[in-house]
Order: sequence, then structure tokens, then C-alpha cells
Amino acid sequence: MSKITVSLIKADVGSVAGHTTVADELIKVAESNLSEAKESGLIIDFRVFKAGDDLELLMTHTKGVDSEEIHRLAWETFEKAAEKAKELKLYGAGQDLLADAFSGNVRGMGPGVAEMEFTERKAEPIIAFMMDKTEPGAFNLPIFRIFADPFNTAGLVIDPSMHQGFVFEIWDIMEHKRVFMKTPEEMYDILALIGAKSRFVIKRVFPKPGGKLPEDEPVAVISTEKLYQIAGEYVGKDDPVALVRAQSGLPAVGEVLEAFAFPHLVSGWMRGSHNGPIMPVPFRYAKCTRFDGPPRVVAAGFQLSNGKLIGPVDMFDDPAFDYTRQKAMEVAEYMRRHGPFEPHRLPREEMEYTTLPKVMEKLKERFEEI
Ligand code: F6R
Ligand code: MG
Ligand code: MG
Repeated sequence: MSKITVSLIKADVGSVAGHTTVADELIKVAESNLSEAKESGLIIDFRVFKAGDDLELLMTHTKGVDSEEIHRLAWETFEKAAEKAKELKLYGAGQDLLADAFSGNVRGMGPGVAEMEFTERKAEPIIAFMMDKTEPGAFNLPIFRIFADPFNTAGLVIDPSMHQGFVFEIWDIMEHKRVFMKTPEEMYDILALIGAKSRFVIKRVFPKPGGKLPEDEPVAVISTEKLYQIAGEYVGKDDPVALVRAQSGLPAVGEVLEAFAFPHLVSGWMRGSHNGPIMPVPFRYAKCTRFDGPPRVVAAGFQLSNGKLIGPVDMFDDPAFDYTRQKAMEVAEYMRRHGPFEPHRLPREEMEYTTLPKVMEKLKERFEEI
């Protein structure tokens, strides 16, 4: 059969009770628009999710990545949802739709995109991850752990078909450049880059040549859109999404999820300007209340069946993640006590909503040489 493309495209087009969560009315609008596209044969299957204030469209089709038809469908779905949001006077209605009209591809227009085309295996487990109140670099740590850290992924040591490692495609999102690097041999250099997560982000992971899976078909992909770079000013959060394939020569589903058992610090909490722990939660808890957070990650697990989505399984709906959530809240509490001080508040260069330049301007005349 032909290759399948899985596209996960998201935008914040309006939320209820401030930036807390997507209204059910918007989910209905999105579902009805995507149902029509399914009936017309444009897409094979879809699911609509909410992660905090982000509307998430998961679609399968055979049009390949960056397909104009699929991106148009996503854009028009967001536009319709934004219309509804305006009608209901939801908060930030239409905020991530940065262009007035669709022009061939949603990249650079506001929505975040993670999509990959591959040959569906005999059994194809895939997990869709969605984060709220954070930035694309928040995926660096877990994706590295999943595909390169033997203390996370036992298969890197034990499974002969994974033992050779993976290829990481890393983007410099400031300079708009990319580099392909191999694990395990270039692991330290990779970490030197991706530890600087506000600039270097993992975009895709590929199998190495000569293995069980085709080397040119990604096994993971992460959205890397930075809204404030696109708009030139702060307009909202670049809350990222990712797709990860699993099993049979790839990390097991449990190895993929294990990487989220540590609630690492990410940026993007309250006003896009604070560091805080990322908390893995079931979908019913994907609403950001405390100090507009703390940042969340949700995960929907599926089997693909000729492009049809069998699932979802709400992957973090498991007491096995209670300890992580508890730890996240301890860290959240500890970070919050810093108030406006770094490292809870982001370093100056990374502040998105900042009054600092204005404060500096105001005090210009009063600063004396010392
Ligand atoms: C939005 C977010 C929030 C807002 C904050 C202020 O996703 O993370 O923390 O930044 O609620 O929002 P405004 O400026 O819209 O009042
Ligand atoms: Mg919002
Ligand atoms: Mg959001």
C-alpha cells in the first residue's frame, strides 16, 4: 500500500476562562469540518483534541507532508473555530492565526505542525504528544532520552535492531539552519546543542541506514514553530506537539513514555516568561489553572490500520505517573516561591512580555558611571 502521512496541526484560536481550556463548541466545529473532509476522501481519519487552550487536529491521509490541501483544511478548520470563538467572545479568539488568508502552507502562519510520511508496518503504534504553556525545545530532553539514552531505553542496549542508534535532525531556530547528527557517536556534541533548548530543537529522528526501517522515513517529528519569531512580537505561546512511532526496532511504548516520568523544567509558564516543571496528565486534566499552568503534556496512543486511527488511549491516565505529578507540584511550589526572580522568571533575552526595555528607558538619565 502507499505511504501514510500523519499530520498533527494545532493552534490556539480562543479559550474559555482566560487561557485555561478550549471550549467544547470549538471541538464540535472542528469535528464537523474534518468529518466532511473524511467523507469527501481527502483524509482517511482524524481526531480532535484539546490540550489546555490549544485546539489539536490529528489527521491521516496519503497526500504527503506540507500538502497544500491538508494545510488548507487545517487552516479553514481553525478559521471556522475562530469565528465560533469570536461569536462566543472567547478569550484570545483567533490569536494564533497570524495571516489574513491562506497561502499554500500553514507553516509560518501561526499554527504548529508535526507531520511525517512513512510506510505503515504490519503493526504501527504511534503516540501523539501535545504540550501547553511551553516551547518547542521542551521536547528536546524526552526525545533525546527516548532515542539515545540507554538509561531510559533498554532497547538501545538489548535490541539488536536498535543497537546501532539513530540520526537526529536538529534545527537552529534563530539562524534557520539544520544539521543531521548520529547517536551514539556524536552524543556529546548533540547534547552541547540541544541543552540550549530555546535555540536548538530536535525536529526529526530517523533510523540509521542498514536497519530494519527505511532510513529516509522519520520515526519522530516535533513542531518547531516559534510564534514570536513569526509575528516579530509576542502573540501567544508556541506550545509544541510531537509524533513518535514505537515498537519492533523502535523504542517500546513504555520506553517512549518513561522519558516523561521526570518533570523537567521548561520555559513558557505564565505570560510565556517563567520556568516550571512539565506535568504529564490525562486529557481531563489538560487545563491550566495554577499561575496559568504548570505546563502540561498529554499523550494519545494509537495503532494505525491502513491509515485508520485505532484508539486513542489516554497514555498518562495511569497512577504510574502520580509520583511524577507529585514531584512536578513540589517543583512548581519551589519555583513559584522565587516570584519575579530568575531562574523562575526567564533570563532577560528570553522574556516575551517584557517591561524591562521600558524600565531601562525610563531610568536612562538616572544611571551614573561607577
Ligand atoms: C497564554 C498564557 C497566559 C497568558 C496570561 C496573560 O497561553 O500562557 O499565561 O500569557 O494569562 O494573558 P493576557 O496578556 O492575554 O491577559
Ligand atoms: Mg490562549
Ligand atoms: Mg496554549
